[in-house]
Amino acid sequence: MAYRLVEELALKRRLDTDSYRTLITASANNDAVFAHLRDKAAKTAITKFGYGIFIRGLIEISSYCSNDCLYCGLRRSNIEAERYRLSDEDIMECCATGYDIGFRTFVLQGGEDRALTDDRLIPIVSNIHGKWPEAAITLSLGERTDDSFRKLFHAGASRYLLRHEAADESLYNSLHPVQMSWSNRISCINRLIGIGYQTGMGMIVGLPGQSVDSLIKDLSLMEKIQPHMIGIGPFIPHRRTPLCNNRPGDIRLTLIMIAISRLMFPDALIPATTALATVSSTGRKEGILSGANVVMPNLSPVSTRHKYAIYDNKVSSAAEAAENINLLEQELNRIGYRINYSRGDYNTDINHEQI
Ligand code: 5AD
Repeated sequence: MAYRLVEELALKRRLDTDSYRTLITASANNDAVFAHLRDKAAKTAITKFGYGIFIRGLIEISSYCSNDCLYCGLRRSNIEAERYRLSDEDIMECCATGYDIGFRTFVLQGGEDRALTDDRLIPIVSNIHGKWPEAAITLSLGERTDDSFRKLFHAGASRYLLRHEAADESLYNSLHPVQMSWSNRISCINRLIGIGYQTGMGMIVGLPGQSVDSLIKDLSLMEKIQPHMIGIGPFIPHRRTPLCNNRPGDIRLTLIMIAISRLMFPDALIPATTALATVSSTGRKEGILSGANVVMPNLSPVSTRHKYAIYDNKVSSAAEAAENINLLEQELNRIGYRINYSRGDYNTDINHEQI
């Protein structure tokens, strides 16, 4: 039964709610079904992208956050969090270092820092775009106004990551402060797509209070929105948050959701996330073998990396560090993959240069 559902999903790219439930439960409990699902997902990625894995240089530009998400170590209530903001020069230096290593995507990520106004960000984006026009600029800076999204797009950003975190509205509300609204988050994602951004969404697996039905809602929401990029990682508790005593998310369930997402969206750019690499030393590799085709090494200044602590023990060394690209290449080689140094835009021929 579950095997047939894998085939059906690969063919139709969607299942009904009951079938998703059957497939998720069977994959969680039966090793052979789990292996079959992952194998099908990995083969689907190979058919589309070959054995090349895209890399994105992640620059964590600010650890300040005016938001208060219950799961995140950078929440404003965490008065012990170490706060920093990179200067324009720091950011340009990170890009220059990354460009020399071979990165052709820079991801500027940060908390919802009120100091990151349009006046501050637009020159940064346009300077990067002007200096390295062949590189893609991805922003991951939380919810902003439509006007701001547009201005940043016109300044040269072409991609935006804004995870929906949880499609189940009551689960979402239980994990976010009242000032945040689920509907605004979803409308931000829709607006980003409308503007023309390659847009990423995604969820945290294993959030306290999350059920299999919540995860099915995540799949249904993504089916409706049709994102270009999908970030999925396990929940990892942070000691200075209200969720500090909760259990981390299950790695196997995370891999199941990655594999199902790959079968639903064969063209999507799906990272093997840092959270996966943090919960398991083989997490990154397992993500790729479940259909992921992107990794996002850390390109932030080494001195600030430990301060961007969204969860405990976040890895930023070894193959997770941009300067150790050779370690990443070796790790990929060991499972038959390699780095694809091209920009890796959504669904364009550029992607296929190095297959
Ligand atoms: N565990 C796992 N993922 C987390 N994120 C934030 N806090 C945690 C946590 N404790 C994720 C959110 C956010 C992304 C940058 O990191 O999904 O969008």
